[in-house]
Amino acid sequence: MHYTPSRKDHGLAHDPFKAIVAPRPIGWISSLDAAGHLNLAPYSFFNAVCDHPHIVMFSSYGEKDSATHIAASGEFVCSLATFDLREAMNATSAPYPRGISEAEMAGLETAASRAVKPPRVRASPAALECKLLKTDRIAGLDGRWSGNVLVFGEVVSVYIDDAFLKEGRFDLAAARPIARCGYMDYAVVEELFEMVRPVLTERG
Ligand SMILES: Cc1cc2nc3c(=O)[nH]c(=O)nc-3n(C[C@H](O)[C@H](O)[C@H](O)COP(=O)(O)O)c2cc1C
Repeated sequence: MHYTPSRKDHGLAHDPFKAIVAPRPIGWISSLDAAGHLNLAPYSFFNAVCDHPHIVMFSSYGEKDSATHIAASGEFVCSLATFDLREAMNATSAPYPRGISEAEMAGLETAASRAVKPPRVRASPAALECKLLKTDRIAGLDGRWSGNVLVFGEVVSVYIDDAFLKEGRFDLAAARPIARCGYMDYAVVEELFEMVRPVLTERG
């Protein structure tokens, strides 16, 4: 089959786009509002965009609280969402009114960050503390705002739970991160395989 996204002519119950660009890592984003209230929500249009420097990005459909708070405060933290924390992660996506802490509602403890004000999810094996670089109200080919706000941040401090350091590496298979696929599906990383690149250049 072949379909044109703008025409939605796939003839399927659901657009398969998100099942193709999958699995997508989940940025579990904490931020603070102007009064210092904690906001926590998962975003799967999330990824690292480069590593010199470490820059991450997430995309908010509409100006949701995370994007709004981060635009004002300039700081956020991405905690790693894991299989053990899957129910709590999902619970923090509930649309609570502003000022209600999703973390508290999901029974999650937080821990202070080192370089930014928003805390991380205490039980998460790793977290990226970020300072805002820019937000972008991205337009589509028609030149009009698509309704999506991209948030880019530079990672200024990285937390890793020492229990997940094994032989000098972050033990991803032990952390068991979850990732978003299409529909209601998720993937979990429990097994890795290694491949060596044919030519390694200075630029990586
Ligand atoms: C696994 C998962 C991934 C999500 N990814 C996104 C996303 O990439 N963009 C988005 O706008 N909403 C996403 N959502 C929905 C938000 O988490 C939800 O709208 C939340 O209430 C936003 O919270 P906030 O307004 O406090 O930022 C996702 C939800 C789940 C459960």
